[in-house]
Amino acid sequence: MRSFVAYVVDRDKDGGLIHGLVERPLSDLGSEGVLIQVQFSSLNYKDALVSRGNPALVKTWPHVPGIDAAGVVVGEEDAGPVLVTGFGLGVEAWGGFGNYVRVPRTWVLPVPEGLTVSETMVLGTAGLTAALAIHALLECGIDPRKGEVLVTGATGGVGSIAIMLLSQLGFRVVAWTRKTAEEPYLLALGAARVLSAEGEGEDVKRALRTPRWQAAVDTVGGVVLAHVLKEIVYGGAVAACGMAGGTELDSSVFPFILRGVRLLGIDSVQCPLPRRKEMWRRLAGELRPRDFALLHRSLTRSELDPVIDAMLQGRHARRALVRVADAL
Ligand SMILES: NC(=O)c1ccc[n+]([C@@H]2O[C@H](COP(=O)([O-])OP(=O)(O)OC[C@H]3O[C@@H](n4cnc5c(N)ncnc54)[C@H](OP(=O)(O)O)[C@@H]3O)[C@@H](O)[C@H]2O)c1
Repeated sequence: MRSFVAYVVDRDKDGGLIHGLVERPLSDLGSEGVLIQVQFSSLNYKDALVSRGNPALVKTWPHVPGIDAAGVVVGEEDAGPVLVTGFGLGVEAWGGFGNYVRVPRTWVLPVPEGLTVSETMVLGTAGLTAALAIHALLECGIDPRKGEVLVTGATGGVGSIAIMLLSQLGFRVVAWTRKTAEEPYLLALGAARVLSAEGEGEDVKRALRTPRWQAAVDTVGGVVLAHVLKEIVYGGAVAACGMAGGTELDSSVFPFILRGVRLLGIDSVQCPLPRRKEMWRRLAGELRPRDFALLHRSLTRSELDPVIDAMLQGRHARRALVRVADAL
């Protein structure tokens, strides 16, 4: 029987969490949908949660994380490379940290012209999310002449890509980070300046603060999102896409009813196909990042564990491209 190697999370006989590379029969993937031989995946915050058995995400054991995958459909290699991000990949279905995934055909997109297979995974869910956030803000009328745009969780995957894309569009971007040692990286991405997150978000009592940002891309949530909402200028907008710093939102209505601030929810997972295709077309075209090498580090699956732990502790920076087809 054919087999494949996957980074598997499982429970041992005492209920403890185990994780690592395991050989599994291909039949574990079932028989429904298309079989994709995975060349590249990526590590997202959600993958880090899944890889450590987050009970809200992992419902059955064993499980293979990896919400992003790119490669070729087995038997359809001539049709060109494909990619899958989100939907149920790496959560309901075994994910891209295995050499193969089997998914509904409706989840599969062709790799757009203008991007290589590995570039689609440097972007991955983070790139799609950053593009959706920026698209939503542009629809609200943000304009480089109207002032600075804030990006929180700046050194993370979504944050890094959002900074590069916004700066390419001519915006003056301010990077909000807890890792001030990464200032050279953030400036190289295109940030105009870097703001230390230390101490920010702690002044929870004031309903509004001095308006500073025409808009923001928030990847952190919690007290940071509540703080950012208080500093958006009249008529501005915040694209909320993350929860790395918390899922609660303790905000008054004042930013909304006194300054007309708009809070835009961003979801990449169930994003409908037409919008998804449009975002990938833009990421391969006018939004194509100018420097993929700067945006990421690359690793094999046997190098995943320390990077997963660093990500969950908020110590990781940049995108992590996972070379699934490479020797382990
Ligand atoms: N809505 C969607 O469809 C969608 C899609 C992708 C991701 N997301 C969410 O967006 C967030 C970012 O994802 P990602 O893949 O870019 O993750 P990531 O690479 O780990 O980046 C998260 C960044 O947030 C900051 N951070 C981490 N822990 C924090 C904490 N406890 N308090 C404050 N800041 C913290 C760090 O940036 P600094 O050190 O620079 O501050 C970190 O680099 C996650 O919550 C993820 O679940 C949502």
